Amino acid sequence: MPDSLLRVLACGSVDDGKSTLIGRLLFECGTIPDDVMAALERDSKRFGTVQGGTDYALLVDGLAAERDQGITIDVAYRFFETTRRRFILADAPGHEQYTRNMVTGASASDLAVLLVDARKGLLVQTRRHAAIASLLGIRQVVLAVNKMDLVGFDQAVFGKIVTDFYALLGKLGPLAVTAIPVCARDGDNVTAPSTRMPWYSGTTLLTALEGAEPTSHVAERAFRMPVQLVARPDHTFRGYAGTVATGTIRPGAAVVNAVSGIEAKVSRIVTMDGDLTEATPGDAVTLVLDREIDVSRGDVLAVAPPPALADQVTAWVVWMDETPLFRGRAYLTMLGTRTTMGTVTEIATRLDVDTLAEVPVRELGLNEIGRVTISLAQRMPCERYAVSRELGGFILIDRLTRNTVGAGMVTDLRAGANNIQWHRLDVDKQARAGLMGQKPAVLWFTGLSGAGKSTIANLVEKALHAQGRHTMSLDGDNVRHALNRDLGFSEADRVENIRRIAEVSKLFVEAGLIVLVSFISPYRAERMLARDCVEQDEFLEIFVDTPVDECRRRDPKGLYRRADAGQIRNFTGVDAPYEEPLDPEMHLATLSAAPEVLAEQVVIELRRRGIIG
Ligand code: ADX
Repeated sequence: MPDSLLRVLACGSVDDGKSTLIGRLLFECGTIPDDVMAALERDSKRFGTVQGGTDYALLVDGLAAERDQGITIDVAYRFFETTRRRFILADAPGHEQYTRNMVTGASASDLAVLLVDARKGLLVQTRRHAAIASLLGIRQVVLAVNKMDLVGFDQAVFGKIVTDFYALLGKLGPLAVTAIPVCARDGDNVTAPSTRMPWYSGTTLLTALEGAEPTSHVAERAFRMPVQLVARPDHTFRGYAGTVATGTIRPGAAVVNAVSGIEAKVSRIVTMDGDLTEATPGDAVTLVLDREIDVSRGDVLAVAPPPALADQVTAWVVWMDETPLFRGRAYLTMLGTRTTMGTVTEIATRLDVDTLAEVPVRELGLNEIGRVTISLAQRMPCERYAVSRELGGFILIDRLTRNTVGAGMVTDLRAGANNIQWHRLDVDKQARAGLMGQKPAVLWFTGLSGAGKSTIANLVEKALHAQGRHTMSLDGDNVRHALNRDLGFSEADRVENIRRIAEVSKLFVEAGLIVLVSFISPYRAERMLARDCVEQDEFLEIFVDTPVDECRRRDPKGLYRRADAGQIRNFTGVDAPYEEPLDPEMHLATLSAAPEVLAEQVVIELRRRGIIG
């Protein structure tokens, strides 16, 4: 039984013959059982695209949807082996919208096979795949130039593609490249040397795969295991379950909890099949320590020196969501077995997949790759991706939809970013508010332009003031003249607008004040951020609900008329979105009551909540 394992990622663009190549490979390695082979012969006649022959792509394109559309739509993992080694082949789809799957497949692979159609040469898609593979730490590439039969087995065509690829190399980082001309349909240079390209004396695809080095010397790296679960079935047993990320561990070895810094020795390595004398990367084990130390889920057990605790990371991020990535927006950041809030503090550059140059940008769109800095709410045990895929790779999750929206690879990390420490002040929020005899709060009025936010907020403030309450108002139109003078109405600018206002209202709450905030604040994500800036009972989201037609009819500033005439772009409710609150503390329907009545309702609600007496 061959014991070395190579994980291969196969990627290509639509129609360049990837499925045929993989099917060929599986077939020639004897992986296909007789009955499947018989079915394949049958199917080839019905659905096949190879005149009178066997269509090996049908072996691989098993999904009905793929058959209908003629494309591959998910990552499929295929296992095969030769006398020399075993292989796991991740089959990544070609379409741009499936970059997510490509990232999934690449993050565990040792080598990438990049398939190129000889007639088309390097496509944007090929460059994108090469860039992603390289960013994800793949250091070996086989450039398989397919459909050589369709270019008359011309050496010059092959040579040109190889030269083009080498021109990219400098920008991709260290990559070992093997270029092979193939005809997947007929099997030329797949497992047996082609007789139709005498000018080529290099290896076949299979020989190249058999000879490749598994990249991961992960077993020789320092031991790290993110703790997935603290197992405590009864009083007598306490163990820490997880999957070894890097390194090797044996009973007796000293480990340290990277989060607390406390040390202990491993006394047992427990598995379902009994104790082990050694655990290596990929092993799922439960470690028992020789003494009770505080270890929680999300901590990392490590051999010293442990990984750093980062509160800021710089990373390559592959963005996978329709809504772009904006500076200032916060996402759940899952790294190792720990999840925390991460706020994007900088988007520096985007990788231009055509030239592989870095271009300065302010946001990242779907399928774009960029260099981003993220500030973490909680310190995370973390390493550079080049050192550890497990502790240097992370995903970004949208807090509202729970979708995975980005994948990141840490290139740099900082602990105690900027060396700024939080100063504990003796006079705090309670002390300040106490002196004024009130409870601080944020009244966050949200709604369309012209909905009546400022009008109602103004009435509420007058009433509070008359009762001797200490208040402060923040109003979109006013703040945009000063603090936020630099911001416009693009989505990115609105995100930043609200982020700043959320922080400012937090400061006013610290000052002990009741803060009235009137901004359109059209995005749920930023309103959630504002909510998270203060204590739970300090925040009231007040939806000033006026239908857009009524706002348009009122049009106090004449802006709807101008927006409808196309003189103002990105106008909320006209050609920019407003995401209605899903669960606001108050819902004021302005069509059914006068502003004075609604303001009175707000005051009553504040009394009910004990914010005012
Ligand atoms: S927000 O979307 O970023 O929250 P904000 O409340 O600060 O907006 O500013 C909204 C005010 O700016 C509107 O009441 C209106 O007077 C003015 N304005 C100018 N252009 C626009 C626009 N394109 N969309 C919305 N409001 C605009």
